[in-house]
Amino acid sequence: MARKPVTVFVCTACDAQAPRWLGRCPECGTWNTLVEERTAAAPDGKARPGGIASAVSLAGVEASDLPRIPTGMPDVDRVLGGGLVPGSVVLLGGEPGIGKSTLLLQVAARLAVRLGPVLYVTAEESARQVRMRADRLGIGGSPAAGIFLLPETELGRILDVALAGKFGAVVVDSIQTIASDDAAGVPGSVGQVRACAGRLLSFAKTTGTPVFLIGHVTKDGTLAGPKALEHLVDAVLSFEGERFHSQRVVRALKNRFGPVHELGVFEMTGSGLTEVVNPSALYLGSSAGARPGSAVLAGVEGTRPLLLEVQALTVEVKYGTPRRTAIGFDGTRLALLLAVLERHGGLKLSSHDVFLNVAGGAESAEPAADLAVSAAVAGSLRGRALPPVTVVFGEVGLLGEIRPVSDVALRLKEAVSLGFKGAILPAGNASEAAAFPDLHATPVRSIEELLARL
Ligand code: TYD
Ligand code: MG
Repeated sequence: MARKPVTVFVCTACDAQAPRWLGRCPECGTWNTLVEERTAAAPDGKARPGGIASAVSLAGVEASDLPRIPTGMPDVDRVLGGGLVPGSVVLLGGEPGIGKSTLLLQVAARLAVRLGPVLYVTAEESARQVRMRADRLGIGGSPAAGIFLLPETELGRILDVALAGKFGAVVVDSIQTIASDDAAGVPGSVGQVRACAGRLLSFAKTTGTPVFLIGHVTKDGTLAGPKALEHLVDAVLSFEGERFHSQRVVRALKNRFGPVHELGVFEMTGSGLTEVVNPSALYLGSSAGARPGSAVLAGVEGTRPLLLEVQALTVEVKYGTPRRTAIGFDGTRLALLLAVLERHGGLKLSSHDVFLNVAGGAESAEPAADLAVSAAVAGSLRGRALPPVTVVFGEVGLLGEIRPVSDVALRLKEAVSLGFKGAILPAGNASEAAAFPDLHATPVRSIEELLARL
């Protein structure tokens, strides 16, 4: 039975569908994001090829740990939840020039050693350009590298090659630049990205071959192309970093096979990305925490401790509304903390501009950062520094109370190993600090108590 083609309009931001074109998405309210997509009408369900499927009992399903393939880069493995799962599809998103191709070429070279030849589909760059990059990474000339390049943009031909050879893994650079002759639209359009990702997904599942997709992000940080791409794949990794800093961070935004919010930290060098064994040392300057407006946060990202310097600057305003600017920290959370400092700490912040920055291009989203942010702001306003070589962490409540946080031992162990001698922490966590006799613990119950320590 011939299916009647149907045209729908899909929002590229939220994946909502509308029967006709609209200037503004009725679901998410963004402008100019609806694009046309042709689909086939659903069959009426009478005669399905393959007959009726059968359901299996949950209890009858074998429960075993998923096999994991180490990628050879421990930080990538950590973010993936312990290694690559056979047949999984991993999407790596990031801004142009951040180092996505570099990272996956390095991963490909290491995977080839374990899994056999890796197919690297280069739809953006020529084989020669990839070879030049490989030479910089020191993996170019070695025949043992086992990377096979395919400069191709048509999905059908890519899949022919992938199915014909026995490849240990496949890398597609990038999903926005390949297209399928069977789908409508230009490369990078909703229909194309979805069709290509869907077919690569079934290739991965049927052959058990892990597939990496490189995806571009738009200026506001969301993945270009449809949101549906994120739902389709098994894991979404985000590759982040400041253009003018050499630090790069990989984090999982979604992972069907492991936890999210694990962090992999790399440094971009002249010969590729190197893993940073001690990220805290990379992010902390030598004078961190020593001057008014600076506080060292003993943070935790996933299962990994990370010391970060929080810097604040307060400037009195003579007229107009005071400005609040936060880089690497949530702006709403900053506004909330400023209100608590004003009300419960008696600080006149409503007559000051407040600028907040997590140094080194890092960011922190955990509630434990509240106390460090409060200490930095209060320190800048009063021109007082915190006690020397001291870390700070704790959650701040709306009543000015300091609430306990998790992973205290992890935070303090990292602080001690980097030479810190003291910690300002929630009173509720004081008993856990007793295990660190070399560290002078200062438990605080409220914002007033914190201010008394400055
Ligand atoms: P690339 O992997 O091409 O980024 P993406 O695929 O995300 O667009 O890397 C781009 C940048 O990385 C480029 O500006 C050069 C730099 N780079 C290094 O500093 N060292 C290296 O060894 C390599 C290969 C690249
Ligand atoms: Mg690239």
